[in-house]
Amino acid sequence: MNNTILENDYKPVSYSQTTLTELMIPAYANFGGKIHGGILLSLMDKVAYACASKHAGMYCVTVAVENVEFLAPVEVGDMVSMYASVNHVGNSSLVVGIRVIAENFKIGTVKHTNTSYFTMVAKDDSGNLSQVPGLLLENKEDARHFLEAIKHKEIRLQSKKDLKLAKTNINLELDTSLLKNERCKIIF
Ligand SMILES: CC(C)(COP(=O)(O)OP(=O)(O)OC[C@H]1O[C@@H](n2cnc3c(N)ncnc32)[C@H](O)[C@@H]1OP(=O)(O)O)[C@@H](O)C(=O)NCCC(=O)NCCS
Repeated sequence: MNNTILENDYKPVSYSQTTLTELMIPAYANFGGKIHGGILLSLMDKVAYACASKHAGMYCVTVAVENVEFLAPVEVGDMVSMYASVNHVGNSSLVVGIRVIAENFKIGTVKHTNTSYFTMVAKDDSGNLSQVPGLLLENKEDARHFLEAIKHKEIRLQSKKDLKLAKTNINLELDTSLLKNERCKIIF
């Protein structure tokens, strides 16, 4: 780990806040005429990269993506804006929160489609993890986001352990009774 960042090297949240706005063209649509989820994910990854790299002052890569659920479909013709902010920094990692809004000028609607969290890590030119600058929390909202990210991480780590245990404890002989009300049939 490259720890060359000085203790007093902090940057405000506002320094790296980034907005990406793009018109949803027909080439982005799926067979149902709505915008492909993958197109939106790719744009979110871009804005997360821009925001994280600006804060870090170096190359960042995506480690994990959380809370991706599209609450409303995005239509062809919508103007989509993605608002990215660094919510939390660890040592080499940054959590970028991205709020996605789809606006339709023709019918005058504004939809919040999702808010997702991208964890990125900073890497130096040799591909080694690098320490990122600390975060200056300029207002209560910044402080809330930082605290939320800490809680989110605690819950994620606990849920990872719980899931691992639950998977290990599956007993095919005993647990098939749990499938009684599921839409499946055992044919072996
Ligand atoms: C992510 C990666 C760096 C983790 O490597 P590692 O040897 O396990 O390193 P560490 O355990 O020290 O983790 C490094 C940081 O990532 C964070 N991290 C690791 N896995 C994580 C996960 N699943 N979710 C969130 N954060 C994670 C750690 O908390 C740590 O943060 P910190 O430095 O702020 O404390 C490594 O797996 C990697 O390079 N993955 C490929 C990433 C990539 O190339 N993405 C592009 C898309 S293909």
